[in-house]
Amino acid sequence: MIKTRITELFGLKYPIMSAPMGPFYTTELTIAVSEAGGLGVLSHATLRGKNSVTDMKEQIMHVIESTDKPFGLNIRTARIQTDHKVIIRTLPKWMRENPKIREQLVYLLTSAGGARFASEWIKKKMPYVKHFHVGPALWLVDKIVKAGCDGIVATGIDGGGHQSYEEISTLVLLQQVLRKYPEHLIVACGGFASPEGIAAGIAAGADAIAMGTRFIACKESEFHQNYKDLIPPATARDTILTTGGFGPIRLLKNKYALEHGEIISKDDKISQELAYDLDEFLEELRRYEIVYTEGDVEDGAIPVGQTVGLIDDILSVDDILSSFTKKAEELLKKACSNIS
Ligand SMILES: Cc1cc2nc3c(=O)[nH]c(=O)nc-3n(C[C@H](O)[C@H](O)[C@H](O)COP(=O)(O)O)c2cc1C
Repeated sequence: MIKTRITELFGLKYPIMSAPMGPFYTTELTIAVSEAGGLGVLSHATLRGKNSVTDMKEQIMHVIESTDKPFGLNIRTARIQTDHKVIIRTLPKWMRENPKIREQLVYLLTSAGGARFASEWIKKKMPYVKHFHVGPALWLVDKIVKAGCDGIVATGIDGGGHQSYEEISTLVLLQQVLRKYPEHLIVACGGFASPEGIAAGIAAGADAIAMGTRFIACKESEFHQNYKDLIPPATARDTILTTGGFGPIRLLKNKYALEHGEIISKDDKISQELAYDLDEFLEELRRYEIVYTEGDVEDGAIPVGQTVGLIDDILSVDDILSSFTKKAEELLKKACSNIS
């Protein structure tokens, strides 16, 4: 058994979390990961044409009706994510109304924007929830710590989905964060999809490892089968950084990604946002919607990490958690035995 501050704090069997993957749904995945002994994390999903606040409540209710285990929730706090303050403000009410939500929702992960608003609100209204924020570069991690978060999800450029303009690798970032903030809870994320990766992160001192792409390619995830099927044959060279809704995004190279062009600068992105008309915005969202509903993996956007190069099969969540951790333990023991 690998014991860390996070497995102890949340009562987990494994130091593994599923990474949030909005705008897609990870509700069934969350249930499977939490049931298996990791920490499942719900995504800030914005598809299905629903009100995202009501939709989030429905997802939470489904999780607590399906498992008694702890789970987490992601809220993206980006400039254009206009619903985030409503969700953060409404969460304490849902917790008051339903003690099971209060008991099981132990981890709130904010990302893609600032941490301060959520941090202040959580401290005041939900002090029993641990607040983590995604940090893609050390100077941004400094801000997360200053905002009063309990933990950091150190996520480098190798990962899937939205990335920062900083382009720091997970390995360098993780070492920087571990050195500077050893008192904080630290989750390593971006580039992990194997027992070797889990062993490396834990050996370095991370309290847990979060994986996204590895969990897309699993039996229980609700990603379209066409999406899942693209992952095992893909190589680590098959992803590209282009511009997404919040800035750079790592996608699988398909027709959509290749036509979308190179990353644009942060200033250009802000000007683009200001000039966006509603139709353009909806068209971007449609590119994710068609992947989710129709499995259109050519004209749709397919976020994945460089970890596609490590994934050869579609496994069950149980297999991923138990066999990967077992192998990681063997690797850690072997490494220890080499020390004289
Ligand atoms: C399909 C997809 C969607 C994602 N959406 C989000 C999101 O809504 N919020 C977020 O914080 N991170 C998001 N991410 C990033 C993941 O949380 C995580 O950092 C990434 O998957 C780690 O890299 P890996 O896929 O190689 O494990 C997304 C990643 C993927 C692959």
